[in-house]
Amino acid sequence: MTHSARDSWGSRAGFVLAAAGSAVGLGNLWKFPYITWNNDGGAFVVVYLLAVVFIGLPLMMSEILVGRSTQLSPVPAFAKLGGRLWSGVGWLGVASGAVIQSYYMVIAGWSLSSFVQCLGWTFKGYSLPPDGAFDAFLSNGPLQIGLTLIFTLLTAFIVYRGIGGGIENATKVLMPALLIILLYLVFTTLTMEGRNQALAEIFIPDFSELGKEGFLEAMGQAFFSLSLGLGAMVAYGSYMGKKESIFKSALWVVVLDTVVALLCCIAMFTIIFSVPGLENRVSGSTIGMLFITLPELFYTEMPGGFLLGPLFFVLVAFAALTSTISLGEVTTSLLIDRKGWSRVRATLVTTSVVFVGSILAALSLGANGLLSSFTVFEGKAGVLSTLDHLAANWMLPTGGFLITLFVGWKLGRKFCLEELGLEKPNPAFTVWLWIVRIVAPAAVLILLINVFMGKDFS
Ligand code: PFF
Repeated sequence: MTHSARDSWGSRAGFVLAAAGSAVGLGNLWKFPYITWNNDGGAFVVVYLLAVVFIGLPLMMSEILVGRSTQLSPVPAFAKLGGRLWSGVGWLGVASGAVIQSYYMVIAGWSLSSFVQCLGWTFKGYSLPPDGAFDAFLSNGPLQIGLTLIFTLLTAFIVYRGIGGGIENATKVLMPALLIILLYLVFTTLTMEGRNQALAEIFIPDFSELGKEGFLEAMGQAFFSLSLGLGAMVAYGSYMGKKESIFKSALWVVVLDTVVALLCCIAMFTIIFSVPGLENRVSGSTIGMLFITLPELFYTEMPGGFLLGPLFFVLVAFAALTSTISLGEVTTSLLIDRKGWSRVRATLVTTSVVFVGSILAALSLGANGLLSSFTVFEGKAGVLSTLDHLAANWMLPTGGFLITLFVGWKLGRKFCLEELGLEKPNPAFTVWLWIVRIVAPAAVLILLINVFMGKDFS
């Protein structure tokens, strides 16, 4: 995405697909189900949905608005509209992007090994993995680094080529394919006996089960899953045509992302409650839930599962890839814009720096004692969990808080009206502006302060 030759998305579908490609990823398929499980579902899901509606959607519109009005990547965009001080918001975003990318690559690598494993089962027949198999996989350092490296190279190659053409076309086919398989998964699981227990776990809230960290995680997950708070949507919005509706585009992305997350959760919980012994196998390593539960379904319950198993993990890898390239784009485009570096050089430098972080994260799953056990945040031992908690629950919400203040107060009403293509305020605009000015920043701030001061909500 150099600015000498700025493209724009061909249509709203172009933006929606690319932005949904960034949003739908491991956050939906891997992270949402496992942290929902760890937080006992129900109340966690309610807080998550509230955060999506009252913070996520308005913030996504704000980010797109900044990108589209400046046609610039995040750091120069904030600098242009707000001066040097506000460009700090862009820098915080770049830092968050680099942190997320470093550990995201590790999890993305697991989709490759699951794909190979499924191929083996398809051709040689399914055999139940022994207890502890996933933990053994996690603590195999060289394997973790190797898988991470493959995924890192794949991402770097696409970022280096620029995200036009190929990836946009591929997204058009692969995103709907992922959705169709997911629907089939859910329909299959809905015939299983654990269905009611799963639906109750996910949709019946019990607020006495949700502690302060749960509130923080639910809100952080909304930021993470929607790719908000670090300027990714500023970057993608900068390619959006002036005629498109920011509200409708943002709404599409938010709805798609949320539906995918909930579908995944329903499928995985139902499998866990239906297959005897699976709950034990998962609970030792909830972080591996996506990779432990689904093969069980493909190879024991689902007609055609032996074909869909490998295909599904290709799609998981693809969903991860459309997210990692958007992260790579945030860091790489900064070096291109600010330093005037060539795309090759910028990609090489960002990839190498991030890969150092990835190695540490890859070794923190059991391979190295110190990296796996040191604890900064309670209950989040090791580099990978620490980086995840830091980025999703602290850095992104802080970025989002600043962006809403920036759009609501610094850019202000007149600027937003014009950019949203309105001649005078209508009720929807007024509601949006008040959310961006007061509700969203206040909610984020109150939660961050309370968690920081150690107040418990439960
Ligand atoms: N939204 C992505 C997911 O749910 O997997 C993760 C992500 C991608 C976060 C890009 C932030 C970002 F800029």
